[in-house]
Amino acid sequence: MSPLLESVTLGATIPLRNRICMGSMTRNRCTDNGKPTKATVSHYAERARDGTGLIVAEGTFTSPHGAEWPHAPVMFDKSHSDAWKVVTDAVHQEGGKILFQPWHPGRIQNDNMPMLKEYNYPVLAPSKIKAKGGKFRTLDGTPGHTENITEIENVKDIVEQYRTSCVLAKEAGFDGIELLSQGGYLLHNFLCSHSNARADKYGGSVDNRCRFPLEVLDAIISVWGSRAVGIKICPSDDYNDTMVSYEELTETYTYYIQELMKRNLGFINLSRRGCDVGRNQDDYFKSSPRPEDKALPANYEPLKQFGKTIKYPGSSTMLMVNHEYTFEEAEDLIKSGQIDLAQFARPFIYNPVCDPARTIFLWQCNQLIRVYQQDLVTRLVSGIPLASNDRGGMVNYGPYQDPNENYNDWPRAI
Ligand SMILES: Cc1cc2nc3c(=O)[nH]c(=O)nc-3n(C[C@H](O)[C@H](O)[C@H](O)COP(=O)(O)O)c2cc1C
Repeated sequence: MSPLLESVTLGATIPLRNRICMGSMTRNRCTDNGKPTKATVSHYAERARDGTGLIVAEGTFTSPHGAEWPHAPVMFDKSHSDAWKVVTDAVHQEGGKILFQPWHPGRIQNDNMPMLKEYNYPVLAPSKIKAKGGKFRTLDGTPGHTENITEIENVKDIVEQYRTSCVLAKEAGFDGIELLSQGGYLLHNFLCSHSNARADKYGGSVDNRCRFPLEVLDAIISVWGSRAVGIKICPSDDYNDTMVSYEELTETYTYYIQELMKRNLGFINLSRRGCDVGRNQDDYFKSSPRPEDKALPANYEPLKQFGKTIKYPGSSTMLMVNHEYTFEEAEDLIKSGQIDLAQFARPFIYNPVCDPARTIFLWQCNQLIRVYQQDLVTRLVSGIPLASNDRGGMVNYGPYQDPNENYNDWPRAI
């Protein structure tokens, strides 16, 4: 049996039927004013029905700041937690587990986006430093990221927004939290020296730059306890103007991971975005060449540099990895004791749902076995290769005529 299919207990509290995790993916289907819809419920429930061990729900805004993507979810009042309860109930009914991912975009937002206008909410970041790049396709002229940034004055207010959102996530029936601390969003803005020029105790030295993300984490732990909480980090990130030198990433993440490990978290999810792994699933996240002053050592991967500070004999924090993993690679890493869990994201878009009503039978190894039709976990169980995306980049975020389009309408393998 594939080691990915072994059951494990996440953080000693969350029993998982296997080590396969669906990575968090913004898919813009929360068309009911930032709340999940029937299409969302069906999407997650069907992936749970196939046997996915753990699902991380899409990044969800802790306050009305939004991001480039329309119809991404929010979680700041009871109507939001009530709507998510329908999703978590459906996932639990299928034997799955689901984590909440709180999200604040920080400087990766544009002040002309409708949600900010509607709520009269500014683009908040540690410092007034515009992020390079960005598109904002729904705004005239695709203006990119904004210069109109308001420096966060009272950091504690934002910490409280995270706490409130995570209290609501508990009421919504989630099983735990994956805190998003990569991708150029707010927590990451504080970590990187080029987006944080603060002169107070939240900027400057490495421990100062890590202070805000750690305060957010501690607030979440105060609600959930540390064992149901994990964090997603990417030392090599290059998305949303996040690239730093090898020296800076070493210094920052040596300290940050040391502090994370002191907190007895359930898991750390280590991404290798920004590394050249010799292939790309598609053009999305295709890493651009790193300039000389930000070059990484040959064949660099954060797992090689930091894996042993997270996963070692006696460590109570599980190590999860993500970004461009194949089943085979993840299996080898589990077998050699280097990781505990693997996340797959894009393959979960186009390797869709099993449908028990359409069960088929195969003659294998001298016996008749029942095979539920196509899906990511089913494919692993039955040795069917994963499907790739044959519809192009629109499948990620839309636009779409019907929320189910490119979301709940993928054909079956057999
Ligand atoms: C359409 C799309 C939306 C995503 N949204 C999120 C998100 O909301 N939160 C997050 O942490 N990562 C997000 N990601 C990143 C994935 O979780 C994952 O880290 C990345 O796709 C690498 O894994 P993969 O190579 O298996 O796809 C998104 C990725 C895609 C393709």
